[in-house]
Amino acid sequence: MGMNNDLYELARKRRSVRRYGATRIDDEVIQEILKVALTAPTSFGHKPVEFVVVRNKEMTRKIGACKQMGGSQIYGADAVIVVMVKTDDKRQAEFWIEDGAIASAYILLAVEQYGLGACWVHIRNRMGQRGTSDQEIRALLGVPDSYTVLNLVAIGEKGETKRAYTDADLPTGNVHYERF
Ligand SMILES: Cc1cc2nc3c(=O)[nH]c(=O)nc-3n(C[C@H](O)[C@H](O)[C@H](O)COP(=O)(O)O)c2cc1C
Repeated sequence: MGMNNDLYELARKRRSVRRYGATRIDDEVIQEILKVALTAPTSFGHKPVEFVVVRNKEMTRKIGACKQMGGSQIYGADAVIVVMVKTDDKRQAEFWIEDGAIASAYILLAVEQYGLGACWVHIRNRMGQRGTSDQEIRALLGVPDSYTVLNLVAIGEKGETKRAYTDADLPTGNVHYERF
């Protein structure tokens, strides 16, 4: 028997879920998930990551259409969290991808804690109908130019079952000690 590792027990169950059931998620659950994201480390502690929670179906569709390919996967999600980072300050901007990515990873884990499904949907360097996905999403949501959208996290009741990872699935050879 291994050591107690609560975070591993949670992390191994987290899988990308791309199909969702119709049950509505309580607003409070979404708030708790975002509380976790707000604890994520950020460069210089600047806390430059901001989130727009979209639950309106029509808006979800419009956001999905801002990604030429693969955007439609969010249509069935009960909530879409749009993750954006303040990029107008040079010092903050250097780490914007890291800052946004860490917060997003925290969201994915927090979602699993409530037995819900989620998937990271890539936005950076993707194209929409006329401009970049980032520009089009920001225009839809009224996000100022000082921010850049990194990704979306689609969340909903799990509509597909995926096997939790086990020790045997882990790429343990990726870990090196003392030397590569
Ligand atoms: C940076 C990043 C971008 C991703 N972009 C997408 C995406 O655009 N669409 C999608 O369906 N999944 C996306 N994923 C999810 C991965 O495909 C998924 O994590 C991977 O296949 C492993 O499966 P698992 O999450 O079930 O462990 C992304 C994941 C990461 C970390």
